[in-house]
This record gives sequence, C-alpha cells and structure tokens, in this order.
Amino acid sequence: MRFITSIKKMQELSERLRKEGKVISFVPTMGYLHHGHLSLMEEGKKRGDVLVISIFVNPTQFGMGEDYAVYPRDLERDKRLAESVGVDIIFAPTEAEMYPKAYQTFVQVEEVTKNLCGVSRPTHFRGVTTVVAKLFNIVKPQVAIFGEKDFQQLVTIRQMVRDLNYEIEIVGMPTYREDDGLAMSSRNTYLNPEERKAALSLYRSLKRASELLNLGEKRAERIIQEVSKIMEAEELIKVDYIKICDSENLKDLITVDREAIVAIAAKVGKTRLIDNLVLKPSH
Ligand code: PAJ
Repeated sequence: MRFITSIKKMQELSERLRKEGKVISFVPTMGYLHHGHLSLMEEGKKRGDVLVISIFVNPTQFGMGEDYAVYPRDLERDKRLAESVGVDIIFAPTEAEMYPKAYQTFVQVEEVTKNLCGVSRPTHFRGVTTVVAKLFNIVKPQVAIFGEKDFQQLVTIRQMVRDLNYEIEIVGMPTYREDDGLAMSSRNTYLNPEERKAALSLYRSLKRASELLNLGEKRAERIIQEVSKIMEAEELIKVDYIKICDSENLKDLITVDREAIVAIAAKVGKTRLIDNLVLKPSH
C-alpha cells in the first residue's frame, strides 16, 4: 500500500496507471474509518484494478461553530484498516496542500443542495463539491463510490458529475448499520452511553415511516407527524428536520406516489446525526 501526500505525485501516478490501461476506483473519506467506509472500499476493489482512497478532513464543508477542530482523527488505525481491505493507495494531503493561501475557487450545485441539510448548513455542500471536484482532478478515477448514508451528498455529486461532464461512474452503496440499527458514522464516537441509546430513535422512526407507507398511508404529513412523536419522546434529542422527499430531486413530497426518501437530522446531545431510508410505494 502506498501513502501519498503530494498532489503532484498523486496526479503523476494516476496518469501513469491510466496509460497502462488500469481502471482507478476511488473512495473519498474524512478518515476515522468504520465498516461503512470499508464496505465502499470492498465495492471499489471489485470495480477497478487500483483502489485509491483519500483521507482529508475538509475544512470548507464545516460551518462556523461546527466540529472541524475536534473531528476524530487516527491515521495509523486508518492505515491498518485500509490495508486489511486491500487499498492500494492512500492519498492524504495537508490542508495547505489542498487550500494554499490564495485559494478562491468553489463549485456550487444549486437546486438539490437547497433542501434538507442545506437549510441548516448553507455552505456545507459547496465545500463538499469543491473538495470532491479537486480530488477527482487529482486522483483521476473512472469509478467513485459514495454512501447512501449521506443521500443528499450522493445526489449532489451525481448532479455535479453530470453538469461538469466528469467521465466518472458514481456508485451508491447502502447504509451500513450497527447490529441495533444505528447508522455507522465517525461522529458516533462523540456519543456517551445515554446518547448512544437515544440515537436509536432515528432508525426506529425511519422504520416506522416505512411501515406506515406499507400499511397504505401515502400522505407525507401524516407519516411525519407520527414519526415526530417518536423523536420528541427522547429527551436528549433535538430534531433539525424530518422530511419525505422525491429521491431524485430532493423536493418535499405531499404524497408518496414515487420513489422517495424519509430523512432525519437531529442533535443527540451536542452531536448532529443524520439518517435516511429509501421508500418505494407498492402500487
Ligand atoms: P465521510 O463522512 O468520511 O464519508 C466517506 C464516505 O463514506 C461517504 O461516501 C459516506 O456517505 C460513506 N459512509 C459514511 N457512513 C456510511 C455508512 N454507515 N454506510 C455506508 N457508507 C457510509 O462524506 C464524507 O466523508 C465527505 O463529505 C467527503 C465525501 C469525503 C468529502 O469531504
């Protein structure tokens, strides 16, 4: 496994691999790897000849007062885990390498970033698309793998790839969960035991929404009302949003008559968690 921190070295290596006819698959991450990340890497192994991952805690996607400074980091552990699933190259640049002093260019996807997390985190997706656009130009992959855990991020990246004509296949992977249903996240490490227990109400709520739809309730508002009750019963939780949206354009749905997502964002103590489920109407 190679470990590269220089943009130029990574670009030269990727160029050489492509000239040799190799398919480069790519999994961007912010590190502190868990099994959700590793499931993306296992898929990447199958889809390419050379698997590159990036580890970079991207400052431009964190808002003021968010957790950039304290975001968990453990590079030695990440290297061991990456090696265990057969990662070929880790690209881990410094902040100065990615954003030198005179840096001033940003990539902004418009419509699909407005709803859901775009409301309370208005600069977040601009940071994500900017860093992913840069990483695509550095790693030069033919395939990139993202998790449905961050559903709006996945939709946003697909839009950017379409709009900016990147020749990259974007693969979405299902959310990897703990045995009790909690979606894996690097941020779960912030939770104390009581918060960890309360956090289960996110998945429980999503399951209830899906159950209600299966029972024939198609009115989004009714489903959201019932789910809100489950969330509000948890004292340690403060809901940011519970929404049901069209899974393609992420606009709010009144009636669940096409493929949709039910999505929740909530603060559990000081930790902001998100989760979602895809809903498929049965008719
Ligand atoms: P990060 O949160 O480290 O996630 C890296 C990738 O892992 C993303 O595609 C994310 O959706 C996926 N992922 C996270 N938890 C998952 C889970 N439980 N199951 C399946 N996939 C999961 O997302 C980012 O980093 C950043 O925004 C990034 C794209 C790297 C840009 O900075």
